[in-house]
Amino acid sequence: MSTVNVAIVGATGAVGTKILEKLLERNFPSSSIKLLASKRSAGNVIEVDGKQFAVEETVPESFDDVDIAFFSAGGAISKMFAEEAVKRGAVVIDNTSAFRMTETIPLVVPEVNADVLQEHNGIIANPNCSTIQMVTALEPIREKFGLNRIIVSTYQAVSGAGAEAIDELEIQSNQFNNRQEIDAKLLPTGAGEKFYPISFNAIPQIDAFDSSGYTFEELKMINETKKIFNMNELHVSATCVRIPVVSGHSESVYFEVDKEGVSVDDIRSELVNAPGIVVQDDAKTQHYPMPLFSEGKDDVFVGRLRKDPDHPAGFHMWVVTDNLIKGAALNSVQIAESLLATEKK
Ligand code: A2P
Repeated sequence: MSTVNVAIVGATGAVGTKILEKLLERNFPSSSIKLLASKRSAGNVIEVDGKQFAVEETVPESFDDVDIAFFSAGGAISKMFAEEAVKRGAVVIDNTSAFRMTETIPLVVPEVNADVLQEHNGIIANPNCSTIQMVTALEPIREKFGLNRIIVSTYQAVSGAGAEAIDELEIQSNQFNNRQEIDAKLLPTGAGEKFYPISFNAIPQIDAFDSSGYTFEELKMINETKKIFNMNELHVSATCVRIPVVSGHSESVYFEVDKEGVSVDDIRSELVNAPGIVVQDDAKTQHYPMPLFSEGKDDVFVGRLRKDPDHPAGFHMWVVTDNLIKGAALNSVQIAESLLATEKK
């Protein structure tokens, strides 16, 4: 299979549009790219780099002759169509939480665990955006020094909640500036009963609450990290917060390594040579990662590296990436590239 037929389900959405851009930018070996969305968008045309793509309604027959189908239209649509797509011969790369924790389905960040792509049943899961950037930054450290514990607090952009959430932030910011009443209709979660303004605010809830008191976003970070690292014994805890940033998730990550005598310089030298990571870490020149400057970039940016004052194996770092790119679209496209490379072997 030298070139493949590709479909993008959710092609009109915040992540779907970026998947198309990344496929074109990276010269992904596609013979055709089919854009799929809901009936509402059928007939719309999306233009990228002067090339026009017509949007079609997603129906089971859409997947006839498709080799790789990227799904990013929400878990319900993945549950409705992913297995159908596989039956019709496609490999599905799913960017929702529908299958991530299914034991037989690989959950992949290529820099960390591309090897698990050797065995799959047609569906491959793309992890949660906040998980991807954290494990990408931690992998070189884990590989060299081992890991015992992670405590993460996130500062997540609204685009992680879809295109409508970006609109909501813009509308509310205008309302705030015009001294109008703020109209909150979507966040923290569309399925919830209460809505709060995101403009000029920070909301310590992403997704619904589990009976444990954690949100599902936090549980995703905890469980997905253990699965990707294949380390059930790893201690992981998370607090996930939505902030009024359009794109770019930031994370304050505390971690404890498994070796004694590791210095900040030891950690830094592993990070500077790692794939997909850019170290921006110089207190003297106030150089550190920020979401505004990560927008549109492929890399995971790491800075504010420092040792915990009290724990001999504890460190802190600040990790930022564009959640729509490495946190979603780019990682999915990299999974597809790794898959083609695995099949060639
Ligand atoms: P549409 O634009 O036609 O509603 P986001 O994550 O930015 O909110 O985007 C969600 C994506 O999921 C959009 O592309 C949206 O298409 C798509 N989608 C929503 N409902 C369906 C559906 N029933 N079938 C296929 N795609 C859907």
